[in-house]
Amino acid sequence: MNLHKRIREATRGCHEKIEDVLQSERILSPDIDLDEYRKHLRALYSGHARVEAGLIHFKAKLEAEGFSLPAPSNSCLISKDLEALNDTNISSDQSPTVLNNHLEAIGALYVIKGSAMGRAMIARRLAPKIGEWGLSEPHYYAIQSQGQDEWMQFVQKLETMTPSDVTTRQTVTGAVAAFESFVPSHFRCSALDRGP
Ligand code: HEM
Repeated sequence: MNLHKRIREATRGCHEKIEDVLQSERILSPDIDLDEYRKHLRALYSGHARVEAGLIHFKAKLEAEGFSLPAPSNSCLISKDLEALNDTNISSDQSPTVLNNHLEAIGALYVIKGSAMGRAMIARRLAPKIGEWGLSEPHYYAIQSQGQDEWMQFVQKLETMTPSDVTTRQTVTGAVAAFESFVPSHFRCSALDRGP
């Protein structure tokens, strides 16, 4: 099994969890309301911003290896959509996703880039609602997004990597950490609970 398929298999449960957290049923529903859309964007913003902050340290190395980071970033696109809803009270004090080496960073990049897949589907469903709410074309859920092309290039790159046990373990660790960054329960315990 190639590295892409290994990561996908290992993180299938993480994706299901994130769909729950982001209330995918509601975001795909024709009767979603504006407040639900706003809350969904906030949750997405928080997760993407954390993962992107964790990836910054690895940007140069990843680019030297031929991986590209999304530009503009997902959090940048989402923040513009929140601004359009006059929701500018975005918390920026959440901690970056912890990534310990560049293989974990590749795993986190898998999550960020792969989000373009669900995004394309959601964009098509949301388009009539965006018009109904009188909003202009969204930045994150834009119908014409480059994300899917970038995803295909990323997958091709992953498939050239030898899926050794170490590579698989570390990329999966990074992908799981990235997915967990979208789960609010991650924040329930404070640093004091993590003792000793
Ligand atoms: C409510 C939100 C979401 C829905 C409904 C959704 C749905 C989907 C769908 C339909 C696919 C394509 C599956 C396929 O064709 O094989 C997909 C793939 C993927 N999604 Fe999501 N998604 C959502 C949110 C997210 C988020 C927030 C992330 C990460 C930040 C994410 C990460 C991924 C990844 C990594 C893949 C690629 C799996 C692979 O082929 O390796 N998704 N998603």
